[in-house]
Amino acid sequence: MTKAMTGIPGLDDLIGGGFVEGSTVLLSGCTGTGKTIFGLQFLYSGAKHFGEPGIFVTLETRPKELRSEALQFGWDLKDLEEQKKIIIIDAASSKAGLPTSEKYTLRRGFDMSNLAEEVYRAVEEIKARRLVIDSLSGLGVRFSEPSEVRNDLFRIGALLGELNVTSLVIGEVNDPATLSRAGVEQFVVQGLIVLSLSEVEGVLQRNLLIWKMRQTTHSMKKHSIVITNKGIEIGVSKPERKKPRAHRTASN
Ligand SMILES: Nc1ncnc2c1ncn2[C@@H]1O[C@H](COP(=O)(O)OP(=O)(O)OP(=O)(O)O)[C@@H](O)[C@H]1O
Ligand SMILES: [Mg+2]
Repeated sequence: MTKAMTGIPGLDDLIGGGFVEGSTVLLSGCTGTGKTIFGLQFLYSGAKHFGEPGIFVTLETRPKELRSEALQFGWDLKDLEEQKKIIIIDAASSKAGLPTSEKYTLRRGFDMSNLAEEVYRAVEEIKARRLVIDSLSGLGVRFSEPSEVRNDLFRIGALLGELNVTSLVIGEVNDPATLSRAGVEQFVVQGLIVLSLSEVEGVLQRNLLIWKMRQTTHSMKKHSIVITNKGIEIGVSKPERKKPRAHRTASN
């Protein structure tokens, strides 16, 4: 089984080497938990380091903002776009009814079939191996309406299945129980990762939980994560942190 390395330091070790190639993983969490950054890191790493071109479908953030968000972490999307290793599909402008000078957008208006067509074309054009959709609620998927969610997810799932790319789909829900009620299980063929924020002694702490990852054993722990100027990484746990100190003492 071939794995697509995520590019998130520390994560691949927790999930048996990466996402199963061609599968779909749902990345969920409330606002500000780092979902978009995770998506950018997955796509950028793939294109830059693992020879896997990718498509980013943005439904809420305009491409210009995404590029500058990515640049904070040293990820030059523009450069990879020019090299035909990344395509950003601007569905945000068409959704908001705003004009755009982006090359990849939904000229005929915002709907699922136009979006699907544009995604097909983009995947074909650069032989994409990865796809990020940011986000499901931008697609109009409402988790408060389980029956609707099931239909929408079925259509999106069918599209992703056709494309044969490793997909990361972003959703806003923080509570996996809500996701199960909404029938996400049927759609998420491979995995579900939940990002969250929790308050520890008055300080917000970032967490990552692998709720489900098929065809592999995976960590069942809530891992702390950090966002640095290099992007997201899994925090080093306390016992591991002690090792370098012990080593220094020994060599002195
Ligand atoms: N350069 C940076 N260094 C450290 N942390 C950063 C940096 N840039 C952004 N962040 C953190 O990342 C958060 C935003 O992450 P991101 O945009 O990925 O969240 P999100 O889960 O996509 O949110 P939303 O659901 O609102 O789109 C910010 O609130 C901030 O805490
Ligand atoms: Mg976001």
